[in-house]
Amino acid sequence: MKVTIVGTGYVGLVTGVILASAGHFVYCVGRNKEKLQKINAGTSPFFEPGLEKLLRIVLKKGLLKAVSDIQNAVSQSEVIIIAVGTPTLNDAIDLSQIEIVSKQIGEALRQSNSYHVVVVKSTVVPGATEKIALPILEKSSGKKVGKDIGLSMNPEFLREGQAVSDALHPDRIVIGSHDEKSSKTLLKLYKEFVCLKVVTNIKTAEMTKYTANSLLATMISFSNEIARICEDTGGIDVIDVWRGVHLDSRLNPIIKEKRVEPGFLKYLFSGCGYGGSCFPKDTKALVSYAQKAGIEAQLLQSVVKINSSQPLRMIAHLKKALKNLERKKIAVLGLAFKPETDDTRESPAIPIIKTLLSEGAVVRVYDPKVKHLVDSNIDKSLVTFSKNVQDAVINSDAVLIVTAWDEYKKLTPEFFWKKMKNPVVIDGRRIYNKDKFLKAGILYRGIGYG
Ligand code: UDX
Repeated sequence: MKVTIVGTGYVGLVTGVILASAGHFVYCVGRNKEKLQKINAGTSPFFEPGLEKLLRIVLKKGLLKAVSDIQNAVSQSEVIIIAVGTPTLNDAIDLSQIEIVSKQIGEALRQSNSYHVVVVKSTVVPGATEKIALPILEKSSGKKVGKDIGLSMNPEFLREGQAVSDALHPDRIVIGSHDEKSSKTLLKLYKEFVCLKVVTNIKTAEMTKYTANSLLATMISFSNEIARICEDTGGIDVIDVWRGVHLDSRLNPIIKEKRVEPGFLKYLFSGCGYGGSCFPKDTKALVSYAQKAGIEAQLLQSVVKINSSQPLRMIAHLKKALKNLERKKIAVLGLAFKPETDDTRESPAIPIIKTLLSEGAVVRVYDPKVKHLVDSNIDKSLVTFSKNVQDAVINSDAVLIVTAWDEYKKLTPEFFWKKMKNPVVIDGRRIYNKDKFLKAGILYRGIGYG
């Protein structure tokens, strides 16, 4: 099939490469010419394990082309996927890019005599596809949705850092469609992908995405609330608490005398807060959407509130260890919102660095993939980027672990003793063996252990 994906960001490019690898011909439409050239030359504009390799393979096979001419791409494609950003504006979702792109697609379809399905992949609040994209498409194309053109909402469930394998081997594909012909077209598009396909209406698909992300965010904030209670009680390590909780056979069934160990339990841990392009944005959008519908989403409001203050627990730990932060040299290990990505959107590292600077600390940072700060509120001249972990840690008064990169996991108590006078390690991701560090005389504190 011929497919157009509008948007060459994270979701757009990963989806494009994966669909091309399944044998479809894909146009990736973007506006930034430099970025398009990069993609056509086989370079991914962002770091994502495995993406560049697959991109080169599909380019070589002639199955993907990054272009700026939306009109030409759309008119030739049976399926047109909208994968533009839906950022947060005043705590609510900003759908302006969906509106612009829907109009452009409609205009491109005006002269077409063949059938096309327009698919919203961007995360949008329930009702947005039918209330916003549909009327714009109909007006600008002069055609009827459900008759001349199809309409679907097909949320993505990709995790950064694992997006390629998630997309190649999805756990489910949710297809929300306006009509049967649209869903049949999407089932054909995803024929090569073996998994359960949930066919539903558009609003349900939109809500499924929000609910999935909100559930995960809720579990994380819950685990962080429990961590706070453990820290302030003293003598309890949240890791031990979770071990005991996870063994409940309703969470962790025993089948044929063996523990199943569900992936969810491996995923869930207490830490210095969730970040990224999805959880923070989607939970806030759902709260605001519910409010407009007359529902006070009390639980989700708390989830958001807990997460916004969670990074500052790191500062509280640090102050307990060092008292005053004025002129103290602090090494921040990790800027990405999670390992295996160079994405710093909503990363807990940002509020942590801001607070350190406002308290007069001298900040050195090191992240294996992030080499500059995109958050403009931070005075970049006050932050030193170290070229490696040794340079960041040497002679520092304390080290904060903010991202669970494998490179940091390998650091030993001996390493910290070698580089620091009185090592203080505040572990925001609980990557170290607490007993080993304490035994080695390190002042070790972390989320869930005070
Ligand atoms: C998430 C969803 O997992 C994915 O299905 C959806 O499509 C997009 O949003 P992603 O944002 O890439 O994916 O990362 P994820 O691995 O879910 O982590 C999100 C944030 O939560 C990270 O900052 C991570 O460090 C944090 N996290 C995760 C925790 O703080 N504790 C946890 O237990 C798990």
